[in-house]
Amino acid sequence: MSKSFKRYLITSALPYANGPVHIGHLAGVYIPSDIYTRYLRMRGYDVISVCGSDEHGVPITLKARKEGVTPQQIVDRYHEIIKKSFEGLGIAFDIYSRTSSATHSKTASDFFRKLYDEGKFIEKTSEQYYDEQAQTFLADRYIVGTCPKCGNEGAYGDQCEKCGSTLSPDELINPHSAVSGSVPVKRATKHWYLPLDQYEEFLREWILEGHKEWKSNVYGQCKSWLDGGLQPRAVSRDLDWGIPVPVKGAEGKVLYVWFDAPIGYISATKDLTPDWEKYWKSEDTKMVHFIGKDNIVFHCIVFPAMLKAHGGYILPENVPANEFLNLEGDKISTSRNWAVWLHEYLEDFPGKQDVLRYVLCANAPETKDNDFTWKDFQARNNNELVAILGNFVNRALVLTHKYFDGVIPACGELTDYDRQTLSELAGTKEALSSNIENYRFREALKEAMNVARIGNKYLADTEPWKLIKSDPERVKTILNIALQITANLSVAIEPFMPFTAAKIVKMLQAGPFKWDDLGRTDLIPAGHQIGEATLLFEKIEDDVIQRQLDKLEATKQANAAANTSQNIENQKESVSFDDFQKMDIRVSKILAAEKVAKTKKLLKLTVDTGIDTREIVSGIAEHYTPEELVGKEVLVLVNLEPRELKGILSRGMILMAEDPTGKLRLLRPEEAMTPGSIVG
Ligand code: 2FM
Ligand code: ZN
Repeated sequence: MSKSFKRYLITSALPYANGPVHIGHLAGVYIPSDIYTRYLRMRGYDVISVCGSDEHGVPITLKARKEGVTPQQIVDRYHEIIKKSFEGLGIAFDIYSRTSSATHSKTASDFFRKLYDEGKFIEKTSEQYYDEQAQTFLADRYIVGTCPKCGNEGAYGDQCEKCGSTLSPDELINPHSAVSGSVPVKRATKHWYLPLDQYEEFLREWILEGHKEWKSNVYGQCKSWLDGGLQPRAVSRDLDWGIPVPVKGAEGKVLYVWFDAPIGYISATKDLTPDWEKYWKSEDTKMVHFIGKDNIVFHCIVFPAMLKAHGGYILPENVPANEFLNLEGDKISTSRNWAVWLHEYLEDFPGKQDVLRYVLCANAPETKDNDFTWKDFQARNNNELVAILGNFVNRALVLTHKYFDGVIPACGELTDYDRQTLSELAGTKEALSSNIENYRFREALKEAMNVARIGNKYLADTEPWKLIKSDPERVKTILNIALQITANLSVAIEPFMPFTAAKIVKMLQAGPFKWDDLGRTDLIPAGHQIGEATLLFEKIEDDVIQRQLDKLEATKQANAAANTSQNIENQKESVSFDDFQKMDIRVSKILAAEKVAKTKKLLKLTVDTGIDTREIVSGIAEHYTPEELVGKEVLVLVNLEPRELKGILSRGMILMAEDPTGKLRLLRPEEAMTPGSIVG
């Protein structure tokens, strides 16, 4: 039998304040958490939803370094953008706090100090990577190298973003500093470690035995961590940005961001209410962490071990982590700007918050990674929101205005078909509730939309517009029922599309409704005057979608250009002027050109060097045809040692430039010059 709780504490992963929030974050974490929270509020439960910006750690300092500003400037900027954009999308946290707050600093320090005083940490000195050029230890993302699991050359010291493996700096092949690019040395440093191995038994029991109901992706990841055996984890870092380790002799050391961030949930609750302990310290509270799959280990293993070590706190009842959302077939990436940014969406699509909420929930990566495409966004808006939901509500209201001056007509005798329709409606509540309570938000949204489908079908089948002349009494019943379905629809969609629900309620001039009203057929009384009917959704045209696709294409091209410039080879070793002078380069004219038999790349060129006429074999057959070359003036290194190639004695080298993609172009004098002219 499932336990019953008196209150709920909902946490949503604290986004790093090193960039704005994108659709991947929304689909993975914030939309599910908002749906769940709104549902619980509608049921009248005692529920709080806490979140805030994660403002410490290397992602922040790296961004600051890149832009040449302070970490404080970075977090101030993105905290504001993120907070405002969440509000804009209707993500209704009770508090959106930040981990740079004084409350948090004290809460996290006290937490560490208690564990320290009680001897719960291991103190250990070890050799860690150090950048001598930048004079800094290279924690986490400050060190980059090749992933030992998948070969990705851009893996970080804490994680490979390509294959998702958790890494330690020592595992990286070819490690180098993300700060200076130099190859690091090892240097001894002292840190505090949480001995996770000592919590293994407790975690096995609590998760593997006690929470078999967790989503299979979450349970599976926990099991594989536990089966692999847990190791002590450092909870401090050598950095100058973060909460100082509150211990003597720890100068220059701060709490590891993954130690302080989850404590941020506690700090946020403290900032919200003086009654915070009731949410964190009572077994009557159900705590649920909404996160993305890359955060599973921290929320299911590390943070619970910290809470257990501290004592007095409850543990999460569930951690319904989602998989990842891709964008147009490619992994979303903040650094590559491959994303749909929430703050930009809100600017580009004013008033269309619910369209994004709908699409991201309908397509949420609940059990596997999923793809967001702008075409799907358009199709779901036009074929589902406009054609089903908007169409039904509009017809019900417009017909009521047309036939009854906007006054809700009385319901007469019900036909069998009416009863069948209403009984379908009555089934919605249970199905919806059970799906939401079990974190199946996609299914739940289908159930909510089903109310609109029921309504649409009812009007299409009963055809009141055909009966109004012959049987106006019957039309009264039909429209009464259609309006009751409309009121139900506003309740069913509220957790998912709160803006639309509010618009319907306003048009009906009724409500507010509660969750328990779902299924009722007397939500608005006969004789009630409804308000003006306006359209809930409008069609999104191709040009609007094309603009978004163009924006992504521009990003793709900018990335390709940036990649190309990254492939530029490093400068070669210096040469002396004398060495350079040894090379004899002459303007020469190509007199004849032909393919070298049985080769793909080689051409035999006959050139007039001004000194003589000679043959040169050149690897340019894939870049120029013989006809293109004849008559051209080129530059030739004439004193290169002769070499035999395919039986031809090649005397010299035609000078060419090769770009990072491997394309070859001839180097030529700007205007005609006498063969034999010296280059230098
Ligand atoms: O992955 C992230 O974006 C982290 N900033 C999430 C932190 S969640 C919590 F622990 F604060
Ligand atoms: Zn990898």
